[in-house]
Amino acid sequence: MRLKQIAAALLSKSKSSWPPTNPAMAAPSITQTLTTSTNPEEDSLCSVTKQEPEPSQQQQQQECWLLGSPGRCLNGESHVERAWAHWRKLGEPKLIVAPMVDNSELPFRMLCRKYGAEAAYTPMLHSRIFTENEKYRSQEFTTCKDDRPLFVQFCANAADTLLEAARRVEPYCDYVDINLGCPQRIAKRGNYGAFLMDNLPLVKSLVEKLALNLRVPVSCKIRVFPDLQDTLNYARMLEDAGCSLLAVHGRTRDEKDGKKLRAKWEAIKAVKNAVRIPVLANGNIRHMDDVHSCLKETGADGVLSAESLLENPALFAGFKTAEWVLDGEDRSEEVKLDQGDLLVEYLKLCEEYPVPWRMIRAHVHKMLGEWFRIHPHIREELNAQSKLTFDFLYDMVNRLRVLGVKMPLYAKDTRRERISADGSGA
Ligand SMILES: Cc1cc2nc3c(=O)[nH]c(=O)nc-3n(C[C@H](O)[C@H](O)[C@H](O)COP(=O)(O)O)c2cc1C
Repeated sequence: MRLKQIAAALLSKSKSSWPPTNPAMAAPSITQTLTTSTNPEEDSLCSVTKQEPEPSQQQQQQECWLLGSPGRCLNGESHVERAWAHWRKLGEPKLIVAPMVDNSELPFRMLCRKYGAEAAYTPMLHSRIFTENEKYRSQEFTTCKDDRPLFVQFCANAADTLLEAARRVEPYCDYVDINLGCPQRIAKRGNYGAFLMDNLPLVKSLVEKLALNLRVPVSCKIRVFPDLQDTLNYARMLEDAGCSLLAVHGRTRDEKDGKKLRAKWEAIKAVKNAVRIPVLANGNIRHMDDVHSCLKETGADGVLSAESLLENPALFAGFKTAEWVLDGEDRSEEVKLDQGDLLVEYLKLCEEYPVPWRMIRAHVHKMLGEWFRIHPHIREELNAQSKLTFDFLYDMVNRLRVLGVKMPLYAKDTRRERISADGSGA
């Protein structure tokens, strides 16, 4: 069904309806909201606050009750019920863009949403820097009204600082998420991410602080311990501390190479069975067949995908790169889409929602990686540009096409599925 809708949109002559080309219709970024001048003509840029007036106190209290966040609501049964009520209110999103530093920024999230993503995480934001530095805030966190449901992720090791950072974003998101999974050296030096697994009382204090004081629920993204029982105790501790949703990356802190090491879906399944809040599965989601198997095997409420989405942002709409098409698998010729098309769409979104060039550069390499392997001189030309422009990048895609690159993304043949489903054929 989803694929059919996207196919219709792609085949339609009028591509103008999405993304909106009329700046007055375009959704503003929060950066603009927070930093624009007082010129009344620019009021359209401030629509997040203008279009959505502050809720009344009564509404706020009702919402608090629904979200279950403030301290007075925080106890066992009702916390779990409210966690589920919130999740249902968001439409129980199953297909979710994982948090990725420098990569899950606004234009990329919007591209993935167009192609089937039902929710998305921001890149990890550093809570202390976020509270201290206006430039960091305005460059690293942008959003718009269609960028929902949204998880805003922070790393932290001090509860008060985390709360201060979280308060700045809570009006613009559906969860404030704590990164408890980053295994990089920088996280070890900064004492955050997966290195907090060595200091669980600190983790508990971070979760409790947010759960007691925010109006939006708190979620956590964790890695697993080598020992399953430790993982289950950890997950239960987070739930008891007030966590309303848990994303479980099924690899340990030492398992850094996601391409080589399979995520342990059985550990995710065990966490899902051990806690009562919604659980998301993360690791090894490379195409929609993985989504279906993962949901079935783990019983999780949704999945996150990271690396594979970078290469193929249309993954959640059912598109596959050639690598994953099995011999004899039915693939439709109906929908023509390739990574060059997706990159052009992404660049247009970047023109609409500006982001630092380093992020754009990273996406160009990820989306066109296979294309560059065939024509490495084009990659070298790209690398030689100390300053990029959109014209250069659009022209680069055209030149690759003229050189004859043909690498379609493959869409599942839904016609055959339909026939089988109603039992009338195939
Ligand atoms: C480029 C990149 C940046 C990432 N940044 C973050 C991050 O900011 N926060 C986080 O919790 N995980 C981060 N991750 C980890 C992913 O969210 C995810 O847990 C991991 O890649 C496993 O999912 P996958 O098998 O679908 O790639 C990052 C991964 C990649 C590839």
